[in-house]
Amino acid sequence: MHVLVTGGAGYVGSVVSAHLLAAGHRVTVLDDLSTGHADAVAPGAALVPGSIADRAATDVAFGRSTIDAVVHCAAKSLVAESVRAPELYWSNNVGGSLALLEAMRKHGVGRIVFSSTAATYGEPESVPILESAPARPTNPYGSSKLAVDQMLASYANAYGFSAVSLRYFNVAGALIGDGLSLGERHATETHLIPIALQVAAGTRPALSVFGTAYPTPDGTCVRDYIHIIDLADAHLRALEWTARSEQAHLVCNLGSGSGNSVLEVVEAVRRVTGSPTPTVAHPNRSGDPAVLIASNGLAQEVLGWAPTRDLEQMVLDAWNFAQQPARSA
Ligand SMILES: NC(=O)c1ccc[n+]([C@@H]2O[C@H](COP(=O)([O-])OP(=O)(O)OC[C@H]3O[C@@H](n4cnc5c(N)ncnc54)[C@H](O)[C@@H]3O)[C@@H](O)[C@H]2O)c1
Repeated sequence: MHVLVTGGAGYVGSVVSAHLLAAGHRVTVLDDLSTGHADAVAPGAALVPGSIADRAATDVAFGRSTIDAVVHCAAKSLVAESVRAPELYWSNNVGGSLALLEAMRKHGVGRIVFSSTAATYGEPESVPILESAPARPTNPYGSSKLAVDQMLASYANAYGFSAVSLRYFNVAGALIGDGLSLGERHATETHLIPIALQVAAGTRPALSVFGTAYPTPDGTCVRDYIHIIDLADAHLRALEWTARSEQAHLVCNLGSGSGNSVLEVVEAVRRVTGSPTPTVAHPNRSGDPAVLIASNGLAQEVLGWAPTRDLEQMVLDAWNFAQQPARSA
């Protein structure tokens, strides 16, 4: 199949592209390179530089040859920025996605897998979080993703789209090997594992731990981490699901189904790197729930997917990626 991967020059999109290519599929990437990198586009994929919101760019991306399905990763994804400048998120994530869906209609493509997020749930009433849990995002980033989930449901109903919203929890790790080296290169890094690895490498003085008195075993926040390669595999399975489903929208969590505290992640970083990795305690950040863990039963049941790589592997792969020669962030 020929897949259009939006955001394929970014962290998730680059690894998903590589995974699709390795499975024998064809990939075209549409990316405006706002946070992505042209040299992260998986070898063998064709890059169309441009925005999902730009009709001329989508005409080129869809017009090159028949596209069978879309994996839609392109988005802005910084929670704090979304609170400060929500218009960027409504415009890029929601307006851009609407333009993409209209381009799909124009070009007769009705299969899509979307990068949704655990941030659509907001503060959970109970964990593990089921897909049926109320979606009450606590910031414009989460709201913008939920709006696209709802947009997909309406396009499935009205236009027969077959769509999957994959609600990722915390994605980590890298894809290294077979001449590939793809991992996180965010200029503004907000994810715990790459930040902790920067401390281990000595490029940051200490790791800020926000909240040490949560009702968790060691007092720090617990999150659900998922390896980027397991995540990529779920996209292929979701694309296969869209081929056998019509006029349907599936919302599906992607997480390990278990949690690790901030201090457990720091311990894993210390074991993998051998560095003391100092930490500094700070007060809780508002809106940071104590525990976020996915129920992944639906992904197992419907997609036949299960995570196979643990936290140690995520930290090791991210460390090996970070140790490679300097590239632009
Ligand atoms: N990384 C995570 O832990 C995580 C967790 C939950 C959800 N997500 C979602 O997964 C997706 C990918 O995240 P990531 O970590 O790879 O981010 P990223 O910033 O590395 O990748 C996003 C890519 O989209 C591109 N892009 C942004 N706006 C665009 C537009 N209008 N047109 C074309 N390209 C555009 C950027 O240049 C970048 O290459 C995002 O939608 C994000 O919300 C990520």
